[in-house]
Amino acid sequence: MTLAELNQRFGISNHLNFTEIAGGLIAAKIHNAHASASIALQGAHLMTYQPNGEEHVIWLSKYAKFAEGKSIRGGVPICWPWFGANATNAKLPGHGYARTVMWQVLETKDLPDGATFISFGLVETDATRAQWPNQSPVKIEMTIGKTLRIELITHNTGKQAFVLGEALHTYFHISDVAQMTIRGLEGCGYLDKVGEPASRTQKDGIVIESEVDRIYVNTTADCIIEDRGLKRAIRIRKQGSNSTVVWNPWTEKADKMGDFGHEGHRGMVCVESANAADNVIMVEPGETHKLVVVYSVEALK
Ligand code: BG6
Repeated sequence: MTLAELNQRFGISNHLNFTEIAGGLIAAKIHNAHASASIALQGAHLMTYQPNGEEHVIWLSKYAKFAEGKSIRGGVPICWPWFGANATNAKLPGHGYARTVMWQVLETKDLPDGATFISFGLVETDATRAQWPNQSPVKIEMTIGKTLRIELITHNTGKQAFVLGEALHTYFHISDVAQMTIRGLEGCGYLDKVGEPASRTQKDGIVIESEVDRIYVNTTADCIIEDRGLKRAIRIRKQGSNSTVVWNPWTEKADKMGDFGHEGHRGMVCVESANAADNVIMVEPGETHKLVVVYSVEALK
């Protein structure tokens, strides 16, 4: 669909329009009574979300690269249908292919409370089928309002069960990593991926002072990112997710990535609602699996 056709079919006057951004990518830009947001059609990748009168909730790297087939650094990359390395074929892309392929817009609408709804379906091609032969149409639905709600919906329309790994790999914007504590995972077991992988248990709130790369398992808890610098907390509610990944690459790893900037890691933390490691999901024929998150901003108590 051309840009003009997209705008004609799915644009909503004053609230939603499609524009070309860097690298020839197309993005939906939303602005309504509650918030603004932008979403690239490649990867159905939400890049920004900002409630009106608030700071950005989502971090997008100043050095993000926008190019066909490349994941954007920041925002909400969709890791699907596997998380991290593929379990059987190391040559396949880390975190799956959903974040780097085209998604088509399925529906847009204004909701009665003034929020804006947009949904996308992943466009399957020979290249995606070569990596993942299962019949598993996947949709993502986003509601941009006072809060940000995202639903990642996987159907199994085939005859075989399949094992699904997934994450909404959200980069949250924070004032400074030294001013931040993540609550909600106290007492939870995690796989520590920094250095030799090890299983550990989280004692207190999470404070980040060096590279952190952890998969917290068997947790359905809300997380709260307390940000003393911005005097706010971001609450992460989730359903259909049994793992939470916490990641900050710190200086050395970020430098190697080339799209973070030397100080970029100070202003972000990834808290990813996931089904990963021991929590991958078996989706039986005819079943639908939903991973849902709601992000909201609260004053810091
Ligand atoms: C996190 C992983 O979810 O994503 C990390 O736990 C990884 O190990 C990070 O480095 C970023 O991945 P990528 O592929 O976007 O650079």
